[in-house]
Amino acid sequence: MKTRLAFFAALAVLLAIAVTPADAAPKAVSIIKGPYLQQLTPDSIVIMWETNTRAASRVDFGLGAPNEDYVEDSTKVKIHEIELTGLAADTPYYYTVTSVDKSKTITSAQSTFATAPAAERNFRFVAYGDTRTNPGDHAAVIQGIIASGPEIVIHTGDLVSDGDSPGQWGPQFFDPAYDLMINTPLLPIIGNHEGSGNLFRDLFSLGNNDYWFAFTYGGVRFIGLNTHNASYSSGSPQYTWLEAELQSPECTSADWQIVYFHHPPYSSGSHGGDTGVQTHLVPLFEAYGVDMDGV
Ligand SMILES: [Fe+2]
Repeated sequence: MKTRLAFFAALAVLLAIAVTPADAAPKAVSIIKGPYLQQLTPDSIVIMWETNTRAASRVDFGLGAPNEDYVEDSTKVKIHEIELTGLAADTPYYYTVTSVDKSKTITSAQSTFATAPAAERNFRFVAYGDTRTNPGDHAAVIQGIIASGPEIVIHTGDLVSDGDSPGQWGPQFFDPAYDLMINTPLLPIIGNHEGSGNLFRDLFSLGNNDYWFAFTYGGVRFIGLNTHNASYSSGSPQYTWLEAELQSPECTSADWQIVYFHHPPYSSGSHGGDTGVQTHLVPLFEAYGVDMDGV
């Protein structure tokens, strides 16, 4: 009897294995956004990517090949963010990113990044925006940007139609921009189509609070602002931060001060100029001699 019970038990196990559907097997990890380059300085850079499942993060990099050094984080996440530090200024590096989930591994195509210059020198950058809704047009613009050879790109918001819709970020933004963002830092500010801003802040690493931030590239101080869902009138945290930034040595010592945000103070377009920006921000820009604002 015992033998027969054991036989049926073994048969039951075999049947259970036989009827396990194929799709119950663990999903292989894959990269669904990026890798893409984010905030950079003369000795550091942030590299991001997104995977379809939670997985560990690793960036391999080097001067002659992408396998001379690495930084890794075993925390399992979908949106990966790794900062490389201690780098040489104004220097190109090779890199790859790798994610591991259980025994599955995915590694990106080899690409390059370059650190920011430590001093002023000539460079080319591109400012563009409103990439939402028409991915084919966005892809064509991206190819034009690549052909012009910028070192960095700033984006003036409205990246996708609905920034709170996770499914739009790939088709409307990251897929068309892949060829550019894999080797050129693209640093956006928020537009009104980014909605609550929660996914925008998850997907980008811009410095400070990701809503308003500043960075130096060559002799230029770039300042990004949020004119969508945060106050910028006198006394607000953003205004107070901006005034301190405009007084800072990093800003005053730069040859150029460029401030970018979504709602232009003066425009010949259908929306016209933004009176809030005219009232609250333009006087500050004029008082501190900002060279270019709005974009
Ligand atoms: Fe807009």
